[in-house]
Amino acid sequence: MHFSTMKNAGLVAMAALAIPGVNACLSEYQANALATNFGKLVSAYSQKLANQTLAPGFIDYSESVNSLMDGGGSAPVALLGETFSSRAAFESASASQPSVPFAVENVWFNCDTITVRWKSAQSPQPVIGISVFHTVYKWANKPVPFLIDEIWGEFDSASWLENLGILVPASKKQKREIAFEA
Ligand SMILES: *[C@@H]1O[C@H](CO)[C@@H](O)[C@H](O)[C@H]1NC(C)=O
Repeated sequence: MHFSTMKNAGLVAMAALAIPGVNACLSEYQANALATNFGKLVSAYSQKLANQTLAPGFIDYSESVNSLMDGGGSAPVALLGETFSSRAAFESASASQPSVPFAVENVWFNCDTITVRWKSAQSPQPVIGISVFHTVYKWANKPVPFLIDEIWGEFDSASWLENLGILVPASKKQKREIAFEA
């Protein structure tokens, strides 16, 4: 009697573990694959990959991107507002952007969250950023059964604005003023 109760309890526990999605946690391979796919969306965007990587209700928060879209300052994009409020919004913005270099430098992950430290080898200044991806389990998604539903990412937007020629670094401004006074 005791034995069979214990055996049943064991079977119930095993059945719970076997249900897809219950207690599903990211593996190292899956975390690295999502980090790589996100990099590809920045460096070689495709809608197919966006659909395989991002959840339809995807939300992206980044004061750095908002600041970049404003070219500095705080308008027209509110600095602390959502950067992209859906996958469709991300897709239409990415499709119209030139691709930029993107290399994954470090990946750390836990059950459902991935932290990526990345480098965009731009010129003249490199840009380092850190992005945190929250993921949701989606058993039918191939090849990785997880989708990113939230991103919080920040990076060196001052260097990015300098690379775009929008921001003049203080050191260069000073030289200009000295040249002007002489
Ligand atoms: C991506 O998903 C959208 C729906 O969210 C769909 O309209 C579109 O055709 C898909 N694109 C590709 C290339 O799979």
